[in-house]
Amino acid sequence: MCGIVAVTGFKNALPLLINGLEKLEYRGYDSAGIAIINSESDNITCNKAEGKLKNLKSLLNKNNIPGTIGIGHTRWATHGKPEVKNAHPHCDSSGTVAVVQNGIIENYQDLKNKLEKEGVVFNSDTDTEVIPHLIQRELNTLGKLNLENNGSTLLVAVRNVITDLEGSYALAVLWAGAPNSLVVARRQAPLIIGLGEGEFMCASDTPAIANFTNIILPMEDEEIALLTPLGVEIYGANNERQYRNPISLNISEQIIDKMNFKHYMLKEIYDQPETAKNWLEKYLIKNSKNGQLEIDFPFDTNFFESIERIEIIACGTSKHAAMVGSFLLEQFAGIPTNVFYASEFRYSPPPLLPNILTIGVTQSGETADTIAAINMEITRRSLVKDENFKPNLIAITNRSDSSIGRQISNIIDIGAGIEIGVAATKTFYAQLLSFYGLAIQFAQIKGTQSKEEISKLILELFKLPPLLEDLIEKHNQSAEKLAHDFFNIKDVVFLGRGINYPIALEGALKLKEISYIHAAGYPAGEMKHGPIALLDKKVPVISIASPGEVFDKVISNAQEAKARDSYLIGIAPKCNGTEIFDYLMTIPESNELISPLLNIIPLQLLSYHIAAHRGLDVDQPRNLAKSVTVE
Ligand code: G6P
Repeated sequence: MCGIVAVTGFKNALPLLINGLEKLEYRGYDSAGIAIINSESDNITCNKAEGKLKNLKSLLNKNNIPGTIGIGHTRWATHGKPEVKNAHPHCDSSGTVAVVQNGIIENYQDLKNKLEKEGVVFNSDTDTEVIPHLIQRELNTLGKLNLENNGSTLLVAVRNVITDLEGSYALAVLWAGAPNSLVVARRQAPLIIGLGEGEFMCASDTPAIANFTNIILPMEDEEIALLTPLGVEIYGANNERQYRNPISLNISEQIIDKMNFKHYMLKEIYDQPETAKNWLEKYLIKNSKNGQLEIDFPFDTNFFESIERIEIIACGTSKHAAMVGSFLLEQFAGIPTNVFYASEFRYSPPPLLPNILTIGVTQSGETADTIAAINMEITRRSLVKDENFKPNLIAITNRSDSSIGRQISNIIDIGAGIEIGVAATKTFYAQLLSFYGLAIQFAQIKGTQSKEEISKLILELFKLPPLLEDLIEKHNQSAEKLAHDFFNIKDVVFLGRGINYPIALEGALKLKEISYIHAAGYPAGEMKHGPIALLDKKVPVISIASPGEVFDKVISNAQEAKARDSYLIGIAPKCNGTEIFDYLMTIPESNELISPLLNIIPLQLLSYHIAAHRGLDVDQPRNLAKSVTVE
């Protein structure tokens, strides 16, 4: 993860760097740092602080550092603890080269050993620090070759160094010897250049740039660029100059207001009726011939016809949405579907089968494992010279302008709007809806469900927004009350079955992420095969019991927990059987297939209130980041 930002040609670089870092803090907040070529001394001035950006801001204490060029970093620690010494930018021994990096340099230990043998002293435990030392060494060698243009010298030095780096990176380099030039480079980590007149900016993500310009040039993999006030030169892996047209950013900077909510996460939970409404307006249309409601994804229907199987690749919360999706695609649309953790798929992909649709799910569009797994799948399928093995791809993402958006042309843009809370809520919701849409479309095209069944499901989706409003209002109160009693618990077990098993997993993940309470989700029927040993009166059990195929089974599983003295919280409608719960978070009765779209709400609210009651930083939980761009 980590976010990087770099600017050149500005009258005053510092406020732009700070503003850029504010927009990138979702990528990590273990430390922050800024290096500027001080125009009074021509030296690099570097300031760093442990923890969130606000600490760096108070360190700078409104003191401006005069300078037109600089780099900044907000860190999610990989190598080395979150301490000041490990904060970026990292400098070489002479303090004339400064580097910020997002990624992991896998061979850093070898490089470090070699440099140490040459007498270089390291000041941090990071993998990144090898880079400024290597660049300085390269600059010394190039100096002997007497290259004239300093910016070009820096470009050559960085290019020579990155050929020795293994792993993934996005980096920006400052050198006091070229006080107007920035060199930036990327491999498997995002980097976007923003273009102005005589002013240029480069950052890990567009919101950091949007305040300055809407004209951008996303860098491609393995590219390196030189940015000076005179312009931008981009070179490909083969060292050839690259020319392409910039694109306009369609999101103008959106100032996301917390409104009157205490945290963004709560606001985003409350946004969900609107998220659902927007999604339905975008993807459901009335067929002008027969008046029926239909899903309208922007893909050719022929595309769907040949598909025999589906594989879905995702991480974290997106994987839970994918698991609900897999249930719908198999049970409603009748298509065999498998879901994979992207990080597992990369190293143990299933054997190749014909006519597979691969779906990548990622709200950020930047998760390194998901991007790499999709790339791998594209490559291995392209190598088979048989039409039936060609890669058929769909991306489900909240960021069509992201890496996955550039990788895959069939995009379901979930349109949830910017989500600030690190723990995903409304993006999860819109991902879920996208899977309902896909299942309906497949069922229509393959004829696996009758028109009536399809219309019934579509109508249930339409009823969601007002139902959600009531549900959120009601359970905001009940969850707050429960949080009062449960904020000190140590372990919680979540149970669900069938289509609600992934919702149990997501409920447990939400609680872990933001409250740091140990929580685990299980398929309710599996509880007796191990997890039941954990239960006693100190371990509450949250059981999702939606009327339908497995309702009675879930109630029996809940009874088994009650017999072990667990306090039972039910996520269920008030109906026969649910009186066994010690506390019922009531859900309106619905078609079982729709129930995940209701059941998730009280679980999100319960996690939120428990974390808020514990006084934790709900929007930026420790050790996490919203966009995970490292393996
Ligand atoms: C991180 C975030 C999770 C998210 C996961 C996958 O771990 O903290 O909230 O679910 O990445 O992110 P993606 O952007 O691929 O959906």
